[in-house]
Amino acid sequence: MFVERAQIGEATSQERRDNAQPDSRVLGRVIQCDGARATLAAYAADGSAATKGLWTVGRMVSINLGDIRTVGLVYRIETPTMDWIEDGLNPITVHVELIGEVRDGEDGKPLFDRGITAYPHIGAISHRIRARDLEAVYDLAGRRALTIGQLSQDHKIEARIAIDDTLNRHFAVVGTTGVGKSTAVSLLLRKAIAARPDLRVLILDPHSEFSTAFPDHSIRINTHTLDLPFWLFRLEELVEVLFRGRDAVPEEVDLLRDLVPLAKQLYRNPTGAVMRRSTDASGITADTPVPYRIADVLKVIDERMGMLDTKNDRPLYRSLRTRIDSAVNDPRYRFMFGSRLIEDNIHETIGKIFRVPHEGRPITCFELAGLPSEVVNSVCSVLARLAFDLALNSHGKLKLLVLCEEAHRYMPADHRLGFAPTRHALSRIAKEGRKYGCYLGVVTQRPGELDPTVLSQCSTVFAMRLANDIDQEIIRSAIADSSASTLSFLSSMGQREAIAFGEGVATTMRMKFEYMAPALLPGAAKRNEADESIDEIDDVDIASLVESLRSVTRPLAPSSPQPSFGTPVDPTRQAGESTPRNPSGPLFGAASDQERPRRRFDDESFRRLYE
Ligand SMILES: Nc1ncnc2c1ncn2[C@@H]1O[C@H](COP(=O)(O)OP(=O)(O)OP(=O)(O)O)[C@@H](O)[C@H]1O
Ligand SMILES: [Mg+2]
Repeated sequence: MFVERAQIGEATSQERRDNAQPDSRVLGRVIQCDGARATLAAYAADGSAATKGLWTVGRMVSINLGDIRTVGLVYRIETPTMDWIEDGLNPITVHVELIGEVRDGEDGKPLFDRGITAYPHIGAISHRIRARDLEAVYDLAGRRALTIGQLSQDHKIEARIAIDDTLNRHFAVVGTTGVGKSTAVSLLLRKAIAARPDLRVLILDPHSEFSTAFPDHSIRINTHTLDLPFWLFRLEELVEVLFRGRDAVPEEVDLLRDLVPLAKQLYRNPTGAVMRRSTDASGITADTPVPYRIADVLKVIDERMGMLDTKNDRPLYRSLRTRIDSAVNDPRYRFMFGSRLIEDNIHETIGKIFRVPHEGRPITCFELAGLPSEVVNSVCSVLARLAFDLALNSHGKLKLLVLCEEAHRYMPADHRLGFAPTRHALSRIAKEGRKYGCYLGVVTQRPGELDPTVLSQCSTVFAMRLANDIDQEIIRSAIADSSASTLSFLSSMGQREAIAFGEGVATTMRMKFEYMAPALLPGAAKRNEADESIDEIDDVDIASLVESLRSVTRPLAPSSPQPSFGTPVDPTRQAGESTPRNPSGPLFGAASDQERPRRRFDDESFRRLYE
């Protein structure tokens, strides 16, 4: 028989003590059980406080088996007769999914276990779950926990995640546009950096909205402040840029594979005889991240075009030269071709991007909005690769989280889309990063378009509202069977609400993220600007809009001439040179020039570095 072991003050025991309240109104009885699910017979709520919200979809109930209380989640209710009696008791059938069991520990504290050891018998009594049992269901059992919101079912109970497991085993936030993904992520990150001071975060931010969410904890890097020399790019990344994201001509790529190592040798040994082969004893390949000059690549191309034996290849050389020229002269690519970074101070740039030392700002918002899409691909690939290599070589000292907003862009399910090296670099983090302290956070509104292997590596998922059937199906297949019916709520969840499941939570939970002050929402600054200028629509400066399309700024006063669109960047000014030959040099290097003292390294000292 039903044994109430509750402490004083618990709803159920009060209900039982209340003689005016017959048990039949607040209790249900098991009439069917199939191992994963059970059906209860009960009576519909009569409007009294005790029965309010008792049998509703999404509620947890407890089935009392004496020592053990089986916890179930209501996923469907109906009247067996499909009828309603106005004055009198209305019998209802309640379908619940069994999610685990609670038993009292030695100290009387309830303990939850996901497995079911004893199944409910027919006639077992079910009732509203006690608050303490509900807390036990979501208890993280000593793991370092962060409160990120409240349970949807009971706002008094905090929704807590185990931060170490959430990060270490990667996480994903999915949901249709506008449900609060970016806000949820910024909330998570805000709490994560407070709890884990060793954590560094790199946000690949395609809409440039995250810097407002962390005004005191982040730095911004955008096209104007980025300085990522082309020689850090691997051949395939460089090819993506040179061919503007289109299919590359394999013969030209082969030539480049041959030319780049030569240029690297020329950089190291400008006067000495360079072996005219792509590989020599030094083992430098097209992918080795050592500096070289584009001017040397062009020089070798010109030399080869003049040779008799390359007569047949001449058109290939010519088209490759044109490609390189146009990329080098394109103002949108200045961040890579105008760079004057040499190997000896590249660590400052890398240190700045990955926040080592972090100087109180462990988050980097890498704003990709101004970059052409083929450059976004290559830059993301370089960054993801560097993140992994840094974490790997730091022997676990550096903990890096790479957060990909709109992740379906870099890791699309359709392998013909997207950029293979970016996908490889990110999936390498997804597959092996955990072992070296490199973590992945994935945010997407289209889980159906995201590479399924990446999603399957994300052990904690926050699924927000998803309207699309395919997307829902993807998430349903990612979740363990026993909590699958929770996902039937996916299409009907409110803003800020999410179903959290996986390693980072004790049990699949439907929760609501904490409210964030409007000033701290991602993209808050942009929204404010737009609101302020809403009455001044005629004042839009179309000239400056057009200029920003050209990716160049308006010419300044003659005293500080700036390059205008189409002005070639001096191709001879390359990695390793400390003073620009052309005073109207690229803009982006200016700020960083002042920030850090640059040492001049001639090729002699470089040679010594290698020898
Ligand atoms: N936790 C929250 N606290 C306060 N407001 C929120 C919260 N979450 C969402 N909002 C509101 O919802 C709006 C949209 O949120 P957000 O930009 O995070 O959505 P999103 O899912 O990232 O959208 P998109 O897919 O377009 O990027 C916010 O501007 C804010 O007004
Ligand atoms: Mg967003």
